[in-house]
Amino acid sequence: MVLRESISVMIPEERLLARVREMAEQITADFAGEELKLICILKGSVFFTTELAKRIDLPIKLDFMSVSSYGDETESSGRVRIVKDLDESIRGQNVLVVEDIVDSGRTLEFLLEMLNSRQPEKLRLCTLLDKPTRRVADVKVDYTGFEIPDEFVVGFGLDYAQKYRALPYIGRLSITKDDTEA
Ligand code: IMP
Ligand code: MG
Repeated sequence: MVLRESISVMIPEERLLARVREMAEQITADFAGEELKLICILKGSVFFTTELAKRIDLPIKLDFMSVSSYGDETESSGRVRIVKDLDESIRGQNVLVVEDIVDSGRTLEFLLEMLNSRQPEKLRLCTLLDKPTRRVADVKVDYTGFEIPDEFVVGFGLDYAQKYRALPYIGRLSITKDDTEA
């Protein structure tokens, strides 16, 4: 018996990029006349962050942080660990945390509390995808790309066991038993 992974398109590339442009315009308007630091949460947010940053018409700085809450599983472990911290201070700065997806919200609850203790001027949260029905922790999302149902998705940065990040669209992953294999 073999497990077969298959992917069907949920959000095509054109819709993703059109929505990213709208989000960038909103962010540009909200921070007009100010500087903004984008914090890309590795690795899932890399694709979203670069597309978003290119479309925000403000002086932008970028920094990167890596936290782990998922292993190679599709369920949250509930544990969050900093794997790579920011390179620079965020004190007194306008900070926008850029996430790929908010699921239980546990990762962000931990992260936002930690970043807030570093005394940024403003701390806002932007996510490409949100699964609101999965929420456990109470996190306020300022900018949401798409609300999606409780299905496991990959692509545009999101992975399953580190695979599929480079797909240009968001796809549903389904894993089925394949008995046809010899
Ligand atoms: P949370 O702490 O449960 O909100 O988990 C957030 C993190 O879990 C995201 O940054 C992703 O890395 C991962 N994650 C949650 N749902 C999915 C999914 O459908 N596909 C891929 N990764 C996911
Ligand atoms: Mg992940």
